[in-house]
Amino acid sequence: MSRDTVLVLDFGGQYNQLIARRVREHNVYCEMLPCTVGMDRIRAMKPAGIIFTGGPNSVFEEGSPKIDPALFSLGVPVLGICYGCQLIAFTLGGTVKSSQVREYGRQELIRRGSSLLFEGVPQKSACWMSHTDRVEALPAGFSVSAVTDTCPAAAFEDPARKIYGVQFHPEVMHTECGEKILHNFLYLICGLKGDWTMSGFARETVEKLKAKLAGKKVLCALSGGVDSAVAAALVHRACGENLTCIFVDHGLLRKDEAEEVVRVFRDEQGMNLIKVDASQRFLAELAGVSEPEKKRKIIGAAFIQVFEEEAKKIGAVDFLVQGTIYPDVIESGLGGSATIKSHHNVGGLPSVVDFKEIVEPLRDLFKDEVRRVGFELGLPASIVMRQPFPGPGLAIRVIGAVTAEKLAILREADFIFRDEIARAGLDREIWQYFAVLTDLRSVGVMGDERTYDYTVALRGVTSVDGMTADWARVPFEVLERISSRIVNEVRHVNRIVYDITSKPPATIEWE
Ligand code: XMP
Repeated sequence: MSRDTVLVLDFGGQYNQLIARRVREHNVYCEMLPCTVGMDRIRAMKPAGIIFTGGPNSVFEEGSPKIDPALFSLGVPVLGICYGCQLIAFTLGGTVKSSQVREYGRQELIRRGSSLLFEGVPQKSACWMSHTDRVEALPAGFSVSAVTDTCPAAAFEDPARKIYGVQFHPEVMHTECGEKILHNFLYLICGLKGDWTMSGFARETVEKLKAKLAGKKVLCALSGGVDSAVAAALVHRACGENLTCIFVDHGLLRKDEAEEVVRVFRDEQGMNLIKVDASQRFLAELAGVSEPEKKRKIIGAAFIQVFEEEAKKIGAVDFLVQGTIYPDVIESGLGGSATIKSHHNVGGLPSVVDFKEIVEPLRDLFKDEVRRVGFELGLPASIVMRQPFPGPGLAIRVIGAVTAEKLAILREADFIFRDEIARAGLDREIWQYFAVLTDLRSVGVMGDERTYDYTVALRGVTSVDGMTADWARVPFEVLERISSRIVNEVRHVNRIVYDITSKPPATIEWE
């Protein structure tokens, strides 16, 4: 399949993946590569346009990421954002300087002259800035197309060479006309048609998989999560009963979730699904363990053992399906980060399965695209819109040692929380929301009786990728209803608290 592709060159900015997602939202396929990628690879890709992301460095600093000037001679349109625009100026002979004042947040963007990039954008509109350095003198052939009060070159361009720079961030929603500006770059300047759609993707992928998987034995580990569900459904369309799915129920899912996986995939989709009830085994292995990382390791290891036992019963297969998605594949432009939690719930799975090749049908997709494909394939919203859920499940939401009794309490409290959030119509706004069973017990009074019971903590966060998060401002009336329902309906809970910490400094999960 040949597709028109936009290359997003990653200079390490915090919004880099957002830029790529925004391009995809315009039905244009794009790939993000680290800024260190060589010209040979860029040429081989034959991009229809190139976008430079922002980044944390100063272009004039020694060792900051640079770009080969040959890139500007490819005849491919370029849009540089923030650091990316400074890099254009710097590389082509302009001047970039550190300014006295940092320009941060909402600014008024005022257009100058006429520009294809700003076609249809009002003379004045709000834009989002976040920079200290700025372009002081433009390279030869460039002219200013927009300014702000403090930034004389908020946007500049050389339309003859199709090179455009914007100091602000068109990808964030605070930039009023950001969508329009990106649209103009992609459609008016790069001449793209917008033929990247999820129905097209699903159709083409099923056809390709049909050819590849015909007559072969295929295995998939289904977790109940969005990615493995959509990957399995796609592969199932292509190879039907040659696909076997193994679903290990570790007993740490939320209320009714395990039953739902069976209902949707076995009963509704008609898949060949093996459900392994391993809840007692996981509980036994977790008995008395309260250290979070130890819980994770135990669960990860037990999961692999159980899966291996089942896979052995099936014997050798040709293909193993994995729900890898694009953010897992993208190499970061710069550096890595410290391990705060070991997030690998099914790490090492391939090594225990006797297979020839891995199929990853979602490798090119962002999460929102995976969800759209899920809907195309007829999966229900309860699966497709499922909020992120950690591999170790409720074991890391029961603080301290995990017991069957504590899991049962947490399941009920969590169910009420989710039910009320959905009733209040907040379920699409809040990125992740769940209950935590703390190991704190406190005194309460119910009727005329003293109680000495558990405190349940409620956590709701807004986020775009889980890397940073803010606590969700759930209205007091909704919290009040949730609190009163939980203490009335769930035995052994007499106190509810709401977590009002952002990430950082806290994390989303409590363990
Ligand atoms: P934290 O708690 O690190 O969570 O802020 C960020 C995101 O990762 C999820 N999470 C996990 N996912 N295995 C997973 O598969 C894990 O051990 C794990 N721990 C946290 C968390 O739910 C949030 O979406």
